[in-house]
Amino acid sequence: MNKQTYSINNCKLLTLSSIIDSRGSLCVLEGNTVLPFPIQRVYYLYGCSLEHLRGGHAHINLKQVFIALNGTINIKLDDGKNSKDILLDKPNLALYVSPHIWRDIRFLSKDAVLLVLASDLYYEADYIRSYNDFKLFTSSK
Ligand code: TYD
Repeated sequence: MNKQTYSINNCKLLTLSSIIDSRGSLCVLEGNTVLPFPIQRVYYLYGCSLEHLRGGHAHINLKQVFIALNGTINIKLDDGKNSKDILLDKPNLALYVSPHIWRDIRFLSKDAVLLVLASDLYYEADYIRSYNDFKLFTSSK
């Protein structure tokens, strides 16, 4: 198990440069250049309830980038010691989330679409889904 220390300070909100012309805007993300990992998986969340939280887990090895392609989404990051809220409300904002970070995701508008770029395929064994287990995991580092 990777016991490198990660904190919410490793999670960065990037403002992507847009290529803008009279037709609109274009943003590009290339793995290993703009992103600190090659992209292995893409998924997106849409039509999400404003009443329920999504996320509610941390990852052991996975790195991710979150982009609200539409609408407004709040992501609460927690490293076991400190937490911070990040508002994603523009499609050129990309939030990098390192491993070992608990995230709670709240959709703040019904039209919100959250794009997630991930450094690996889906492995349930990479998830920590209990906050108590997460606290034990981070305090043992
Ligand atoms: P879940 O981890 O609860 O989503 P969120 O990140 O919004 O909290 O995932 C919901 C379901 O989808 C769960 O049964 C696992 C499954 N899933 C996959 O099969 N592949 C994936 O890449 C992801 C992200 C989830």
